[in-house]
Amino acid sequence: MQDLYREHILDHYENPRHHGVIEHADISHEESNPLCGDRIRIDVKLDGEGNRYRIADAAFTGDGCIISQAAASMLLEDVVGKSVDEVEQIEPQHMLDLVGIPLTAARVKCALLGLKVLKTGIKLWKLQQT
Ligand code: FES
Repeated sequence: MQDLYREHILDHYENPRHHGVIEHADISHEESNPLCGDRIRIDVKLDGEGNRYRIADAAFTGDGCIISQAAASMLLEDVVGKSVDEVEQIEPQHMLDLVGIPLTAARVKCALLGLKVLKTGIKLWKLQQT
């Protein structure tokens, strides 16, 4: 079973979904993993008004290990179409479930880097709206 997850991870690494840059994105945020320097940038295009926004499109670029890049691809595949509120409530465990294999503590940080970038980007965007 774990082989299937490993293949799935490799597939996302080699053929990343939502890879690239979105011109005139509503949210653009980049962070590095301080342990290794690997980085991920996420752009998000939002759709909506008032308090009701959803992720219309999202894209990432980055340099880093297989887990960090594959997890970012899985994350964006998962969040496009969701509301901003739903994305803010994504728990780290959800990301680990998407990755699907047991990870060491250091590797957990790799898997969660994209989620951290996305959530911080949303937080900063919300601050700009107030
Ligand atoms: Fe750097 Fe995985 S080793 S994010």
